[in-house]
Amino acid sequence: MTEVLEKQPPGVDRFPVRKPMTKERFDPLAREIFALKKQLNAVILAHNYQVPEIQDIADYVGDSLGLSQQAAQTKADVIVFCGVHFMAETAKILNPHKIVVLPDKDAGCSLEESCPADKLAELQTTNPNFWTIAYINCSAAVKALSDVIVTSGNAEKIVRAAPQDKDLLFVPDENLGQWVMEQTGRPMTLWKGNCYAHVEFRRDSLLKLKKQFPEAKVVVHPESLREVRDLADAICSTEKMITYCKTSPARQFVIVTESGIIHRMQKECPGKEFVCAPTFDVMRLPGDNCRCSECKYMKLNTLEKVRDCMKRLAPRIELPEPILQRARLPIERMLEISANPSYGDRTR
Ligand code: 13P
Ligand code: SF4
Repeated sequence: MTEVLEKQPPGVDRFPVRKPMTKERFDPLAREIFALKKQLNAVILAHNYQVPEIQDIADYVGDSLGLSQQAAQTKADVIVFCGVHFMAETAKILNPHKIVVLPDKDAGCSLEESCPADKLAELQTTNPNFWTIAYINCSAAVKALSDVIVTSGNAEKIVRAAPQDKDLLFVPDENLGQWVMEQTGRPMTLWKGNCYAHVEFRRDSLLKLKKQFPEAKVVVHPESLREVRDLADAICSTEKMITYCKTSPARQFVIVTESGIIHRMQKECPGKEFVCAPTFDVMRLPGDNCRCSECKYMKLNTLEKVRDCMKRLAPRIELPEPILQRARLPIERMLEISANPSYGDRTR
């Protein structure tokens, strides 16, 4: 559980770390949330980047794919989505008749912002043979213009399954798209968007860290730049990062993604050590509960806001009917391909 920021030990004090939320504050809030959950018949879904206290009260914590799969099968009446806006929208598209709330309505995503639906529609008119593959980190309106949705956990599999006679257009993350092209050998036109948080990781600072921790395995999210991916022992979605760390015989890992994921890694891999990769030129010490790289959108959600959104049933996700209907098709296609072993997957 973290909340207040405090300074690191001497020598690394340029970057603040999160101080655990006290038990005195956590316990009553958690009790209130559990009572509301029962009263509303709600399910709490949380992304791996959420602050630890939110992860600790959630029914399910996972990556974008796992969260969509949970949303697709939930029997709850209310979905409390602790993540960012596009994730809650996806849950709403899969559950148009349910209430979906997001603790902070401003929890956006730089990838979603980089790809306005009208600009995508304009590009699509330039080639009638485009088959549009949209990373789930995009708006519902962009999903409605797409043929299939992917997450970092299934992008490779879905691109392998794409029709051979089509010209693939991949939006909005050019780094993920580039990585998938490298894996599949399938050329794609790439939209020029990126995750502002992941492109802050750089080769030089990672090389320094590798020198400091020569035994550590380097685990990288595919939203990172190629110069960083080239230094990785494993490149995968946040959920697969956790599986990799659990199953690897290594004892030490450098984690190149948002630092919220360290909470689950520490909980689920006792005795192993996680070093949060620095952005730009900063060094971290192992074992710190640090905030080397945080997504400013993911971190807008707090435990208090989770309680409040359940009390008020707001901010609520609402979408126009035509968008709800049209955006559902590519998400369902993704879930179907993801669940089908005959498409042959090396990644999930
Ligand atoms: P994952 O689906 O791998 O959890 O990624 C989501 C995300 O937003 C990464 O920045
Ligand atoms: Fe979007 Fe990047 Fe934040 Fe993920 S980490 S939600 S891609 S801004």
